Amino acid sequence: MAHRIAVIAGDGIGTEVMPEGIRALEAAAKRFNLDLAFTTFEFGSCDYYLEHGKMLPDDWFEQLKDFDALFYGAVGWPDKVPDHISLWGSLLQFRRQFDQYINLRPCKLMPGIKSPLAGREPGDIDFYVVRENTEGEYSSVGGKMFAGTEREIVLQETVMSRIGVDRVLKYAFDLAQTRPRKKLTSATKSNGISITMPYWDERVAEMAKQYPDIAVDKFHIDILTANFVLHPDWFDVVVGSNLFGDILSDLGPACTGTIGIAPSANINPEGKFPSLFEPVHGSAPDIAGKGVANPIGQIWSGAMMLEHLGYKEASEAMVNAIEAILSEGNSQVLTRDIGGQGNTRSLGQAIAERIGG
Ligand code: NAI
Ligand code: MG
Repeated sequence: MAHRIAVIAGDGIGTEVMPEGIRALEAAAKRFNLDLAFTTFEFGSCDYYLEHGKMLPDDWFEQLKDFDALFYGAVGWPDKVPDHISLWGSLLQFRRQFDQYINLRPCKLMPGIKSPLAGREPGDIDFYVVRENTEGEYSSVGGKMFAGTEREIVLQETVMSRIGVDRVLKYAFDLAQTRPRKKLTSATKSNGISITMPYWDERVAEMAKQYPDIAVDKFHIDILTANFVLHPDWFDVVVGSNLFGDILSDLGPACTGTIGIAPSANINPEGKFPSLFEPVHGSAPDIAGKGVANPIGQIWSGAMMLEHLGYKEASEAMVNAIEAILSEGNSQVLTRDIGGQGNTRSLGQAIAERIGG
């Protein structure tokens, strides 16, 4: 049976890198005999907002809920629509309503990409950041009292539920188990945040009992960020609450070079709702329309989507093709952000051809 994939390109370079993402997926589908059916949607973009006064149609949930996955480009065009409206009106709705409680970002230094960390080579940096994506510090519990007076008070509570903490930990431990190093690092701050973070630590220790073959360590978030920079080779799977995971999931990919290649997934592991796959970068208004955006973030996100759908071999073939093209370093093919003179299409085509075998 065909896997139904909803395609939402969004804004700016989202519309330029998406065709290359699909080209690569189609090459993988052909080689590995997969049946992928793409359906394109115009909503979830600022142009849609300008026409309809909203980012999504009222029945978006019904329209999308039965798809096997959502493949997203990037959303946002601040000159037309304020960012909080475009982001909250689209992507954040999907993440919440589809209970995509895992945000997953690989941090892998690729051949031919210069790390901002001196002396690091491919192989030195290869880990995943797993972020809790639905609760924690990003809660709507709180309020403001005596606004505008000397007694002004603001409160915002961190919310950690046992279900919410345990399910992200379980995902991270399961992921660690699939990796050769079998190592899990937990981000905490139980010395300063003295109620919720000791609770997080407690749940980590409890979960660890079920995974005796996983080596577990933990760091307070402050020294952990330092260690991402000083010792990225220490890490394999790093799990954090919503806020800590947010910070680490930008810092990790930044240590591996350009934003143009970093992929991400927002996952509902049980498959009750579709998961969403998107590059880390935004719509890049500064380069949009020129056809020079790097398509690798989109293509790699497609590889994550295939892995999620159960096609590990096809997914690996896509990542291997990206690595091969990067290590060949043909400047006619590579985009400008990674030192080439090529464009979105030349790089996308080269990768798709390589995926084809
Ligand atoms: P951005 O990621 O769009 O761009 C940051 C810088 O990186 C720019 O100089 C851009 O040219 C460069 N860049 C980004 N992707 C690239 C690629 N594929 N190839 C080559 N260079 C690339 O972030 P920015 O400028 O802060 O945000 C622009 C818009 O994107 C805003 O509306 C923002 O809200 C939105 N955004 C959306 C995201 C999403 O859809 N998940 C994530 C981040 C930002
Ligand atoms: Mg962030």
